[in-house]
Amino acid sequence: MPEKPPNKQTEFGYFDDEHKEYVIIDPKTPYPWINYLGNDGFYSLISNTTGGYTFYKDAKFRRLTRYRYNNVPVDSGGKYFYIREGGCVWSPGWKPAQAPLDQYQCRHGLGYSRFLSSKRQVHCDLTCFVPLGTRAEVQRLRLSNRTEAPKKLQLYSLLEWCLWNAEDDMTNFQRNFSTGEVEVDGSHIYHKTEYRERRDHYAFYSVNSEIQGFDTDREAFLGLYNGFEAPEAVTRGRAGNSIAHGWSPIASHFLEFELGPGETKEWIFVLGYVENPAGEKWTADGGLNKTRALQMAADFDSGEKVTRALAALADYWQNLLDAYQISGPDTRLNRMVNIWNQYQCMVTFNFSRSASFFESGIGRGMGFRDSNQDLLGVVHMIPERARERILDIAATQFEDGSAYHQYQPLTKRGNAAIGKNFNDDPLWLIQSTLAYIKETGDFDILEESVPFDNDPAKANSLFAHLTASFDHVVNNLGPHGLPLIGRADWNDCLNLNCFSQDPNESFQTTENRAGEVAESVMIAGMFIAFGRDYVALCRHRGHTEEAERAERHLQAMATAIDRHGWDGDWFLRAYDAAGKPIGSHANRQGRIFIEPQGFCIMAGVGLDDGRARTALDSVNKLLAYEHGIVLNYPAYTQYHPEYGEISTYPQGYKENGGVFCHSNPWIMIAETLVGNGDRAFDYYTRLAPAFREKHAALHKTEPYVYAQMIAGKEAATPGQAKNSWLTGTAAWNYYAVTQFILGVRPTFDGLLIDPCIPAAMKGFQITRKFRGATYEISVANPAGVSRGVQQMWVDGTAVAGNLLPVFAPRSYHRVEVLLG
Ligand code: BGC
Ligand code: NOJ
Repeated sequence: MPEKPPNKQTEFGYFDDEHKEYVIIDPKTPYPWINYLGNDGFYSLISNTTGGYTFYKDAKFRRLTRYRYNNVPVDSGGKYFYIREGGCVWSPGWKPAQAPLDQYQCRHGLGYSRFLSSKRQVHCDLTCFVPLGTRAEVQRLRLSNRTEAPKKLQLYSLLEWCLWNAEDDMTNFQRNFSTGEVEVDGSHIYHKTEYRERRDHYAFYSVNSEIQGFDTDREAFLGLYNGFEAPEAVTRGRAGNSIAHGWSPIASHFLEFELGPGETKEWIFVLGYVENPAGEKWTADGGLNKTRALQMAADFDSGEKVTRALAALADYWQNLLDAYQISGPDTRLNRMVNIWNQYQCMVTFNFSRSASFFESGIGRGMGFRDSNQDLLGVVHMIPERARERILDIAATQFEDGSAYHQYQPLTKRGNAAIGKNFNDDPLWLIQSTLAYIKETGDFDILEESVPFDNDPAKANSLFAHLTASFDHVVNNLGPHGLPLIGRADWNDCLNLNCFSQDPNESFQTTENRAGEVAESVMIAGMFIAFGRDYVALCRHRGHTEEAERAERHLQAMATAIDRHGWDGDWFLRAYDAAGKPIGSHANRQGRIFIEPQGFCIMAGVGLDDGRARTALDSVNKLLAYEHGIVLNYPAYTQYHPEYGEISTYPQGYKENGGVFCHSNPWIMIAETLVGNGDRAFDYYTRLAPAFREKHAALHKTEPYVYAQMIAGKEAATPGQAKNSWLTGTAAWNYYAVTQFILGVRPTFDGLLIDPCIPAAMKGFQITRKFRGATYEISVANPAGVSRGVQQMWVDGTAVAGNLLPVFAPRSYHRVEVLLG
């Protein structure tokens, strides 16, 4: 084993900050704790017992390996190895063989997972990763004999091919049991189902050494009545050399060898995906064209090549993370900001809400609002990809500003089956575009010509798209002058026009009422919060008239909130289709909701007259508890057709009184706006995984990434998390902590320094790369305040105010900040 575990650890694992890894020391975690491999198209999900699956670009249409959802035992199926010594069979990740291991570690790192385990003094070191720019997962497996005597060993690999379309693969057995085709050529096993007809792609699984056998038919390898834990071939000690004809094709290599005393042997397995252009599908004699596969396998056929690829991957991540690094008084804060929160933001950006252990990868496309918000967490790391994403998203907007709720990543076209009318959607485009411009200074993006409704004939500038977003609200106001909610706003489960009595109906797509009455105070807050930025942009570009027009609408909206959106101690949530208030003292349940408190205060409403503080005190009193801030209180205990899906959840879960983590940073930011750094940080620590590590058993999901939901105070299981990894929580928490709590905030004209921290925090240092220059910022808080920059020095010279200018690319500047 490498490093011995540090003292501070839970029973399941610990953070290794130096290697940027989370180290799991017990394979039986409270739930599978997973990692993601791949950065740009080729992806694998991998659990701490090597469960999971692989796909290329689209988790539904290009699924390479099979996974069974909601399986028993949990997380069965993956890319597995069996090591056999005499009658003893074990697996490097404990599963599937499940023989007790003498040692076990799973080290989830940035883009790779490493498994270190041993049994009978045979040590295994398995590293799985997707090399940069490669359509393959590489697995380096080393075995060492740590005894004085030679050992005879066998090694079996195993993966199960998915017949490409993950949904069809799970349902269309009458066809699929007859279509499967494979080919074995030396150590290369090819999966070529449907290649003979319309597919121009195949997959392969290779190892860089001779093999002593193989299997490609699942039944031949496992036995019809066995699970993965005890395959017949492994028990027998010999591969079947089977060729699959239909049924369920797999790939298994069989290796037999001797390890001398102290000897280490290494193998490299490559699971790859190949696309051949139409004219190059076949060789002259009509065979599968394997050239690209052989080249890919050759790219990683030696230890040196793999070591180099791993080093390149580490550099790639270091370079991304370097854009924002803090060295502060709390290691948990440091590891969240420097490593895990940024990492999760990248994964969420890549996967949207498609493939996790809670999202099946066959259901959802890219969400319009989700993808816009995900950008908040990555614009500083990958501005070029953010730019491309913004233009893709904008192209799914309609001319009236409304937007497809989702689009498909392979085609980038709006998803007509879901349609539109989620009336918050258009506004998020303003926020993401502005975040991108503030980070990069790339105002030119506004001139890009972008289609409406994916129709090139209907193209206009991106700026025109932002105007359309703004006007979509202006043109869709309800009886109180507040925005009509449509099918739902950010809260997908507040379906005020649905009135569904049919259990087979989707709350997301059904609208049974005209929708001319129900209004959202949350959208009102969003409109002002993002609309103010829109106005600033117009002024920056000299569009004075447009700025003034927009300002008049913002003013009118502020008045509407004052008159109809304030409930006495907090902001009201909405008006239902009968014009009755939701989130009001007048309600028995659902009296107060989190969303409008966050958004109205971020919009600046109530900051000057005390209402913001009153609302935040109400949040603190009624919504906040040990494990976060719940979405609404009291939770609904019965189904309300007039509210929709929100009232379908048992109390305390999901949108009905759960801590819907995505919304908590809105309150953190609001607290910073009223100067309450202690509360903002306190809320931050209730959710941030590294701070919750101590609750690992209760929390259940990974202690290194945010989950979408933590059960609320009225739930039967308060504090228990679900839906980890793919959630807007990642981006919003990152945005809140880096820009509002630590307070290093990009603006059009430079970096604003405006921390709002706990009074007891003595200071911190941040290295920020911004528009090509490096800012080495050191914040001191000797007077113990929460907020307020007393003096700033740049390169030793006192400067006025707290805005750092844009410096020349590649220049380096030392900034000292005195709070007081
Ligand atoms: C969930 C929401 C989710 C929506 C997406 C609902 O069942 O509660 O969180 O956004 O489905 O379709
Ligand atoms: C999850 C969805 O992905 C997101 O779009 C929505 O805002 C939240 N659920 C809240 O309902």
